Formats: sequence, structure tokens, C-alpha cells
Amino acid sequence: METITTIAALRQALRQARREDQTIGLVPTMGAFHEGHLTLMRRAKAENDIVVATLFVNPAQFNDPEDFEKYPRDDERDAALAAAEGVDYLFTPAPAEVYPKEFDTVVVVRALSERLEGASRPGHFNGVSTVVAKLLNIAGADRAYFGEKDWQQLQLVKRMAADLDIPTEIVSVPTVREPDGLALSSRNVRLTPDQRKAAKVLSSALSDTQAIADTGVQDAYQLAAWLRQTIEVQPGAKIDYAVVVDPETLQEIDTIENGALAAVAATFGKVRLIDNRLLNPP
Ligand code: PAJ
Repeated sequence: METITTIAALRQALRQARREDQTIGLVPTMGAFHEGHLTLMRRAKAENDIVVATLFVNPAQFNDPEDFEKYPRDDERDAALAAAEGVDYLFTPAPAEVYPKEFDTVVVVRALSERLEGASRPGHFNGVSTVVAKLLNIAGADRAYFGEKDWQQLQLVKRMAADLDIPTEIVSVPTVREPDGLALSSRNVRLTPDQRKAAKVLSSALSDTQAIADTGVQDAYQLAAWLRQTIEVQPGAKIDYAVVVDPETLQEIDTIENGALAAVAATFGKVRLIDNRLLNPP
């Protein structure tokens, strides 16, 4: 594996690959790799000749400076893990490489960026869409891999790529979970043992909501109320949102008969976690 820090050097390396008709898979990340990230890399490796992983803690998508400062960073460990997955190029640019002084453009996916995570974290998705547009343009990959854990981000990236005619195929990868159901996240390491136990409520409440749907309940409001109440039972969890929405637009819906997404965000102490699950109609 080769670590590359400049846009010009990455373009140069990939030009060579493309000349040899090799397909390129891109895995954008902010590092602190866990099994979720590694699963994306594995999938990219299985489906492409060359895999590029990017490791860039993107300041533009942090609305809370403290969250940015505290974001876990361990580049050496990450490089070893990526190499072990067969990643060919690890792109680790400095902030000034991605955002030079004169940088003055923002990519906005209007409706999708306002909802759920966007409402709780103003500006967050503008930072995500702008950096992902840049990474897709820099790599010119055949496929780019995103986790369903960040469902809204995935829909936003799909919308942006379609709207801006970016030819890279956006591939979604199912959420990787701990044995008790907790979705893997770089933030999980910040949970105290008690908070870690409490955090299991998110995935179990999502599963319970599907179980209620399975009994024949199709009313989205009723299911969302159930989801919320199931989480509220856990005193360690402070709910930000618990909703049942359209899986593509993330807008409110009345019934889940055409498919739905249950999505939650809650804080455990100072740690904010998200999770989601597609609901199958009964
Ligand atoms: P990051 O949080 O590092 O996540 C990188 C990728 O890993 C994302 O596509 C995310 O959805 C996926 N991922 C995280 N946890 C996962 C899990 N438990 N199972 C499956 N996939 C998981 O998301 C970002 O970085 C940034 O916003 C980024 C897209 C890189 C733009 O800066």
C-alpha cells in the first residue's frame, strides 16, 4: 500500500491504473477504522482491481469544534489496517490540500441536508457533500462505497452524484454491528461501560418496531411513537429524534406500506449516536 498526501500524486497514480483498464473502488473515511470501515474496503477490493481509501477528518462537516478536536485519530494503526485489507492507495491529505486559502465553493443538496441529522447539526451535510464531491472528482472511481449506518448521508451522496452527473456508482453497504446489535461507530470508544450497556437500546428498539409492524401495524406515527417510547424506557438515553420516514427523501409518511425507514439519534452522556433500519411492511 502506498500512502499519498497530494491530489496531483493520487491523480497520477490512478491515471496509470486507468490506462491499464483497471477498475477503481473508492472508500471515503475519516479514519479511526473499525470493522464497518474495513467491511467497505473488503467489498471494494472484491469488486474492483484497485482500491483507494481516503482518510480525512473533514473540518467542514463538524458543527461542533470540540467534536472535531476530540475526533479519534491514529494514522499509523489505520494505515496498517487498510494495508491488511489490500487497499492500494491511502489518501491522507492535509486540510490545506483539500481547502486551499482561496477555496470558495459549497455543494448543497437542499432538501435532504435540512432533515434529521441536518436539523440537529446545521451545516454538517454541506461539509459532507462538498468534500465527497471533491473526493469523487479527484479519484474518478468506477464505484464508491458508503455505509447504511449513515443512511441520510448515503441518500445525500446518491442525490448529489445523480444531480451533478458524477459517473461513479454509489454502492451501499449494510451496517456492521456488535454482537448485541449496537452499530459500530468511531464514537463508541467514548462510551462509559454503563453508557455502552444503555446504547444497545437503539438497535433493540428498531428491531422491536419491526416486530410491531409484523403484527400488522402500518401507521407510521404509531410506529414512531412506539420507537420513541421504547427508547425512553432507558434512562441513560436522551432522544434527539425517533422517526419513521420515506427511505429516499426522509420526509414524513403516513403509512409504511410502500417501505419506510425508522431512524433514531440519541445522546448517552456526551456521546451522540445514530442508527436506522428499513421497515418491511407486514
Ligand atoms: P466515517 O464516519 O469515517 O465513515 C466512513 C464510511 O464508513 C461511511 O460510509 C460510513 O457510513 C461507513 N460506516 C461507519 N460505520 C459503519 C458501520 N457500522 N457499518 C457499515 N458502514 C459504516 O462518513 C464519514 O466518515 C464522512 O462523512 C465521509 C463520508 C468520509 C465524508 O467526510
